[in-house]
This record gives sequence, structure tokens and C-alpha cells, in this order.
Amino acid sequence: MTAERWSSRVGFLLATVGAAVGLGNIWRFSSVLGANGGGAYLVPYLLAAFALAVPLLVLELAVGRTLRTDVVSAFSSVDRSYTAFGWLVVGGVLLILSYYLVLTGWVLGFLISWLVGSQTPFSTFTSGWLPVGYFVVVTILTGGIVSRGVRGGIERMAKVVMPTVFALLVLLALYAVTFPGWGEAVTFLFTPDLSVLAEPGVWSAAVGQVFFSLSVGQGIMLTYGSYTDEGMDFFRSSLLITVADIAAALLAGLVIFPIVFSFGLEPTLGTELAFTTLPTAFVSMAVGRVVAVAFFGLLFFAALSSAVSLLEVGVAAATTWTRIDRMRATALLTAGVFVAGIPSALSYSSVRLLVAGRPVLDIVDESVGTYALPVSGFLIAVVFVWAADFEAVHEELGRLYPLVKYVIPPVLALVTLARALGVARPAWRLLIDQPRDGLLGVVVAGLILSLLVALGWLLRSKLSDAARRCGRQPR
Ligand code: PFF
Repeated sequence: MTAERWSSRVGFLLATVGAAVGLGNIWRFSSVLGANGGGAYLVPYLLAAFALAVPLLVLELAVGRTLRTDVVSAFSSVDRSYTAFGWLVVGGVLLILSYYLVLTGWVLGFLISWLVGSQTPFSTFTSGWLPVGYFVVVTILTGGIVSRGVRGGIERMAKVVMPTVFALLVLLALYAVTFPGWGEAVTFLFTPDLSVLAEPGVWSAAVGQVFFSLSVGQGIMLTYGSYTDEGMDFFRSSLLITVADIAAALLAGLVIFPIVFSFGLEPTLGTELAFTTLPTAFVSMAVGRVVAVAFFGLLFFAALSSAVSLLEVGVAAATTWTRIDRMRATALLTAGVFVAGIPSALSYSSVRLLVAGRPVLDIVDESVGTYALPVSGFLIAVVFVWAADFEAVHEELGRLYPLVKYVIPPVLALVTLARALGVARPAWRLLIDQPRDGLLGVVVAGLILSLLVALGWLLRSKLSDAARRCGRQPR
């Protein structure tokens, strides 16, 4: 049972919006949007945000407040045998943090290099040891904030960082209106194409991106919800978090795509978008250095407040389960995350740590950062709605309850299955052409599928009880 609390509703909202708005809104949203046909992708994205993410946000926040504990204890309070699920979620979050901090380090490196006016190209920057140095700095900074606690650390940081992020986004988006490619960017961003709705791949990408961007289904909101007071309306809060997160992503799109189209760059950008493609445009802009500092500054602040929320999930669990204090738990976890992040940090360096010909960082982003998210969202929805039936959670969800119970779990299971098959099919083909890389894909697909089977097996008795309860006494 945690005694820590946010000081106010505003503090809670700034912290949760801080958790949500991050690299996912700026660096990832634009590249996923670009790769999936621009505005066409917006329809599944918005549907996934409001129909899946909002109800899950309410669920997580309400479970957190009802149980007032960390994510592992929350799972274990439903049934001791589910404790492992809690650790699985925490493990996934910390793995995400390990490469997220590497990216945050790159952002800080770019911010400083533009500030001092000595911009180095991405390949030169990453080939040396500097990125590892910045990785150390941001890891220590994140740990420092979390070690100061919910009010003194996380909330205090969010109160400074979040208004700055939105102010910079709005200013940059206003400046981007003056670019010749603005009209083309708006058309690219906002022209819906309903025909893509028939493509399962676009849906799966949209759901994955929404989960990443909104920090939902990862125990983050459950942990932040455990620090709220009674009487806070979680439906309104969840709507606000979602709208703020989408607004940040669209504003970022309204900054990035006008630059892309005005400078003849490629809209189908990848991981390196912010670090290689955009700087080429900053160099040729009249006030390019100011724009670059504002851009990397906002990216850094957004990433920092998200990294803090990821670490807090682990620290909350560690302090409850080991009874060590916040300071020590933070130090230990920060060190662990740093070690786990080293392969990602070295993957773009001259050491070039590659797996199956791809940088480790990209592999971790695609596996944990993409495939694991719907799995942990599925676990949370099934365990806290099917296996447990908390009256307070039921009340908080209200009319959203049937959505969380009957719609979200099958949709997430389908997305996960589609992804496992999406990995399995090309991996199978690859197995014939390039046995080593193909084997890796088959192993990943096999792991995802066995996880689903194990999950069903572990939950079987609770689920049949719940189904029986449902049949006997319909609510
Ligand atoms: N939501 C944050 C972002 O968009 O960058 C951080 C984040 C949280 C990323 C949870 C991934 C994740 F699973």
C-alpha cells in the first residue's frame, strides 16, 4: 500500500501527459505515419485511441487507485500465481527504457551540439563513444528525478517540462506555416483513405503505435493511478490525456512534414528521421539553429518525462517487493537498465552490434517496443476484468465496461496473433534462404505464441469461474 500522493489534479494530469507524450509522438508517430501512407493511417489510429486506449486507461488508473499498489502486487493480489505476469510487464517496461534512454541520449547530444554550433552528422556522432556518455548522463538524470519521489521528483519535473514541450510545439508549428511545403504536408497528414481500413497491417501498426504513444497497457498508468486521491474522474482524465497526446503527435507532424516537403526530403522516414533527415534541412534554414535547438529541446524534455514514468513502474514494484528504500531501488534499477541498454547503445557505434543484420536498438524497438505492448495490454485487460471483478473499477468504467471485457481482449489477441504470423511467415521463408536470421524470426514467433498459450493455461480456472459467474448472474 503506497502512501505517496500527487499534490493536485493538475500535478497528476501533467505527470500522466508527461508519461504519454514522448519520443513516440514526435520521432515514432511521423515515421509510422510516413510508412503507412500518411492521413490514411489516421482513421485506424484515432479509432484505436478512443475505442481501445481510453477504456484501458480508465481501467489501469482505477485498478491503481483501488489497490493503491505497484503493478506486480496488483497482479499478485488477484491470484498469487499471476505474480509472474506482473514481473513480465515490469521486465518489458524496463527493456523499453533501456533503449529509450539511448535515444534520449542521442537527443541530448544533438541538442548540445546545435546549442554550441558544432553539429556533427549522425554517423560521425554515433561512431564515437559520445553517445554512450550521453546515455550515462540521461540515465543518471532520470534516476535522480525518480529517486526524489512522486511529488518532489516526478510531479515537480512535469510542471516545468510539459508546459515547455507544448509551448515549443505550438511555436514551431506556427513557424512551419510559413514554409512552402505546408499545404502539401497538411494534405499528406489529413487526407483520409478509407480503403486502407481493409489492410490488417495498418490496423496492427495503429494499435501498436497508440499503445506506445499513450503509455497504456504497460502498468505505467496503473502505477500513476495508485498515487491519486479518491474522487478524481478517470474518464475525463483519460480523455484529456488522449487528446493531449494526439494533439502533440499532430503538432509534431505539422512541424516535421512541412520541413520534409519544403526541402524535398522523403516522407517515408525511419528511426534516423530526427537525427539524419531533419538536420539536413535545419542547416539550410535561415534561423535553422534556433529551430534545431527548439526541436531537440522539446524532444529531450518529452523523452525525459516519459523515461521517468517507465523507471517509476520498476521502482514502485522493487520498493514494495524487496522493502529497500526508493533511493536504493532507483540506484539498482538504473544501473540494471544501463547495463541492459549497452548493446542498444553500441549498435550504431563503430562496434556495430547487429543481430540478423540489423542494429540491436531497432530489434529491441520492434520486438519489445512493438510486439510486447499489445501482449501486456491484453494481460492487464484479462486479469483485471475477467479474473478479478473490483466493484470500484466496474463503477469507474461505467458504460465502457463491456468494451474492456468483450471487445479489447479479443482485439489485442488478434493483433498479437497477426503479428506473430507476420513474423513467422517471412521468417519461414528466410529460414530457407538465410538459416541463421530465419531461425531468429521463428524463435521470436514461437516465443510469442507460447506466451499466449501459457497465458491461457494459467488463466484457465479463473476464466472459467468468471464465465460461470457471468452465466449465472448477469449484471
Ligand atoms: N509514451 C511514451 C512515448 O510515446 O514516447 C513513452 C513510452 C511508454 C514508450 C511506454 C513505450 C511504452 F511502451
